[in-house]
Parts: sequence; structure tokens; C-alpha cells
Amino acid sequence: MSGQLKNEVNNSSEPTLKKFAEIKNKHIGIATQSYYVNDAQYASVLTREFDILTPEYQMKMGQVQPQQGVFDFGEADKLVSFARKNNMLIRGHALIWHQSLPDWVVNGHFTKEQWIQIMKDHITKTVSHFKGEIYAWDVVNEAFYQNGAFRPTVWYDNIGPEYIDLAFQFAHEADPNAKLFYNDFDTEVTNPRSNAIYKMVTGMKARGVPIDGIGFQTHLKIEGVDYSEMKKNLKRFGDLGLDTDITEMDIVTHTFAGTQEERLQAQAKVYSGVIQVAMSLPSCKSVVFWGLKDGNSWLNKYTGFSEYPLLFDNNYDKKPAYEATLNQLKL
Ligand code: G3I
Repeated sequence: MSGQLKNEVNNSSEPTLKKFAEIKNKHIGIATQSYYVNDAQYASVLTREFDILTPEYQMKMGQVQPQQGVFDFGEADKLVSFARKNNMLIRGHALIWHQSLPDWVVNGHFTKEQWIQIMKDHITKTVSHFKGEIYAWDVVNEAFYQNGAFRPTVWYDNIGPEYIDLAFQFAHEADPNAKLFYNDFDTEVTNPRSNAIYKMVTGMKARGVPIDGIGFQTHLKIEGVDYSEMKKNLKRFGDLGLDTDITEMDIVTHTFAGTQEERLQAQAKVYSGVIQVAMSLPSCKSVVFWGLKDGNSWLNKYTGFSEYPLLFDNNYDKKPAYEATLNQLKL
């Protein structure tokens, strides 16, 4: 049967990712965009399999505050109402980042106090707009270089490292009930970047700055994943009382030598290993994949190769990666 037909005959007895994730008291979801969910087949697979979603782009500063003081939540609102209608949680993404900024910020010349006010206004207005609708916010995204140094961003350069504490305090004031996350990539194992995050978050907790979790983006290749190292690393953050969620998982395939089938089987093994780690940690409350089907993935542009990084192919058929994930959730 084609993907279309299969999805239409899906009945409630069919095992789904969210059914088994729920048994383990975990959430499982994908990153998406408002125009994707208008497609009936896409929406059917999304709502059948997942119970949490992350706006991949449409909640970012360049989209919601294109001019200073002028806010446009139109597209993000569509995703929030889709999630509400389908009883899904939302991960808000991302309040403070160095990418997808509006030109008035990129080219702005302000005093330190004005930059702090700009950050406060953006966070307060955006978090207040979605108050009560957001399960967790990625408050600050990707603040460190791989070597553990602070990334020189418009926020760091103009405010200093304290921009991070301030961002979390502003977000908490605007919605005390939303979980507040720091989110980053290439942090899944112990390395200079994850050590820098560990040092930062230990300090934040000592200063009483509200932070609830660390988002491990988990953008991987097939090769070289060290699952026991990953478990040890996430556990040290969990031992601080923080959630340790997988927030943007996908697995590049073009780097793996072999036939397409061999690649997809090898990819499935990595999905299985990572999901096993996630399910073994009480601190890991949610797993989000960075897209639904392979053709949606940012990686197709980013790597310049055809990538097959996600759980579904472009016919919405379940790949070995899907089956491997489901089998881990069933354990
Ligand atoms: O929607 C517009 C379209 O109307 C326009 O014609 C087109 C012209 O370029 O741009 C489209 O917007 C693009 C958007 O993705 C939606 O597809 C933006 O240019 C493009 O910059 C944007 O890229 C996103 C990127 O973050 C930057 O925001 C990717 O989709 C998204 O997957 C990627 O996600 C990031 C996470 O937020 C943080 N972690 C890393 C991850 C991958 O880079």
C-alpha cells in the first residue's frame, strides 16, 4: 500500500511512538512549520505518532519581531493552535540566539542598557504572548564555541556573559510555569563545550537563576557515537536536578560508505542507541526529531548532499530508523 493509503487506514490499535513514549512518561515529537501541517497526510502522521512539536523557524526573533517593537506572531500562532487542537505540547524555540535575527538587531548600535532592554522587551512580549501554551522554552541557544569559549554574538558582545542570566530571569518573570532550557549542539558527550555549559549552569543554580533543563540538540553522523559517554554526560546534568532532553535529533547519512540500505540500517542502530540512552535517564523528559520526513530536513541544504536523516521517507513510509526507535520505546 502507498504511504497515503496506509496512513488513512491507520487504526487506534496500531503501535505508535507516542503511545509507547507515554507509557514511559516521556514526550516525543518533531520540529515543524505552519505550512507543513496544512498538508493532510503530514498532519495525520504527525498527530498519530507525536505529542510535542517545536516551531523550526517561526518563533525566532527575525520572524516574530521583524521591526523594533513590531511583533508578528501569525505563523507561530497557527502552530500553537494546531498543537492545542491536537492535544500536543509545544517547545518554544528560540528566544535568544545569534542566528535568524532581524536586521535592526544585526545592524543595531545601542548602549549596553538599551541592548538589555531590547532583550527584555523581546523575551517579555514573546513569552507573554504564548503564556500558558509553552511546555518549555529554549531561552538561550548555542552560546558557546566548541572549545568552550563564549560565542561572540550580538548579545555577548554588547551585554557581556550576564546576558544569559538576564534572559532566563526575563523569561521566568513572563511565564513562571514554562520550563526554561539552555540548548546547544555537539554537547552530547563530555567535551569542552559541554563542560562550559556544566560550569555555566552550576553557577546559574548557585545564583538562583531559574533554569530547568539542558537541550542536547543531537545532530549526529552515523559514525562514532559513544552511547555510554553520552549517558554519563547527560546524567551529570540530571544529577544537578535539570531535565536533559533531546531537542533536535537527526542523523546525517551521506558520510557513511555503503549501499543506501546499509546506510539506513546503520542509521537505525544509532537511533536505537540514542533512544536507549534517553529512555534510561529519568531526567530526559522529551525527545524531538528535527523534522518529520527526510525531504523536510535542513541538512539537505546544509550539507549539499541528499540526506536521509529522519524517521520517515518522503512517501511517509516508516524507515528502519522509525522501527528501531519504536522497538526501544517498547522495551
Ligand atoms: O520561509 C522562508 C521562505 O518564505 C523564503 O522563500 C526562503 C528564502 O530563503 O526562506 C525561508 O525561510 C528559511 C527557514 O529556514 C524556513 O525554511 C530561512 O531562510 C532559513 O534560514 C531557515 O533555516 C532554519 C535555520 O535553523 C535558521 O533559523 C532551518 O529551517 C532550521 O532547521 C535551523 O534549525 C537550527 C535550530 O534552530 C538551532 N539548532 C541548529 C538547527 C539547524 O541549523
